[in-house]
Amino acid sequence: MLTGKTWPAALEAIQKECEVKVWEDSSPIPRSLLMEWLQEAEGLFSTGDVQVNEELLAAAPNLRVVAQSSVGYDNIDIEACTRRGIPFGNTPGVLVEATADLTFALLLSSARRIHEGWEFVKSGSWKNGVNISLGVDLFGKTLGIVGMGDIGCAVARRARACGLKLIYHNRSQRADDQLLEAQYVSFDVLLEQADFIIVLVPLSNNSRGMFGRKEFAKMKSSAYFINASRGPIVDTEALYESLRTNQIAYAALDVTDPEPISGDHPLLSLSNILITPHVGSATYETRNRMANLAANNLLAGLRGEKLPACVNPSVQVK
Ligand code: DGY
Repeated sequence: MLTGKTWPAALEAIQKECEVKVWEDSSPIPRSLLMEWLQEAEGLFSTGDVQVNEELLAAAPNLRVVAQSSVGYDNIDIEACTRRGIPFGNTPGVLVEATADLTFALLLSSARRIHEGWEFVKSGSWKNGVNISLGVDLFGKTLGIVGMGDIGCAVARRARACGLKLIYHNRSQRADDQLLEAQYVSFDVLLEQADFIIVLVPLSNNSRGMFGRKEFAKMKSSAYFINASRGPIVDTEALYESLRTNQIAYAALDVTDPEPISGDHPLLSLSNILITPHVGSATYETRNRMANLAANNLLAGLRGEKLPACVNPSVQVK
């Protein structure tokens, strides 16, 4: 069963081998209906807003595989899946370049105030002179990447082309960081030295609330803060206060906490912020590739084969 619509090619592939139930509505599937469908389902194709936890799995006695069209899986209780011998498949790799593009676009758009310029023109204010804030240079500045995984590396490539100096912080230093021309530094040094900070760490108990008052206070007052990972990595209240008091210069977010963020949220009243609606991977090509990989994960699990991308491979086919 699918908790939401997917792309035609992926759906067709699934329908060729399975009887399929799809929640077609754009609102989330009601939990009670999901539980009801799961009574019989052998495969679950989930979306990021469905909590796959012990309670849900207990209602799914026949479930043999869970697949999701995303690389992040903070909505999935992996240990609970593993305890029940259910493999979980995600979609790493296929969204790296698209997500790096969007992340870098947030950096460029905020540094050069692209949306302010557009609002200025659109409102008909462009008459005698241009009355919007000046941007800042990228060339020669320092970019700090927190979370140098595949997407971080793809952002680093783009940043080098713009003449940015690169520092990064990760759980551990990368063996290839000389090739990346990126210097490994402690978290505190990154906060203190970076002109632009890009966050790309997965959400976990360790990263939840990683950026709060203390961290924003360590940043330069000219710092630009960009989050393209998950909203709860940032303490939203602390971010709001540091932007409101100009403790840091600017924030650009593709993810928020809460998500979706409502139109009357205090963050939206600030002039030094840019928010996009969690669209890091949202291109035709990439979303198609993600759906296809998720379908392949689902079908492999149902056939009792190894999943092409499995997060808990210890439970794979005995
Ligand atoms: C991902 O794949 O994790 C993206 O953030 C979309 O949820």
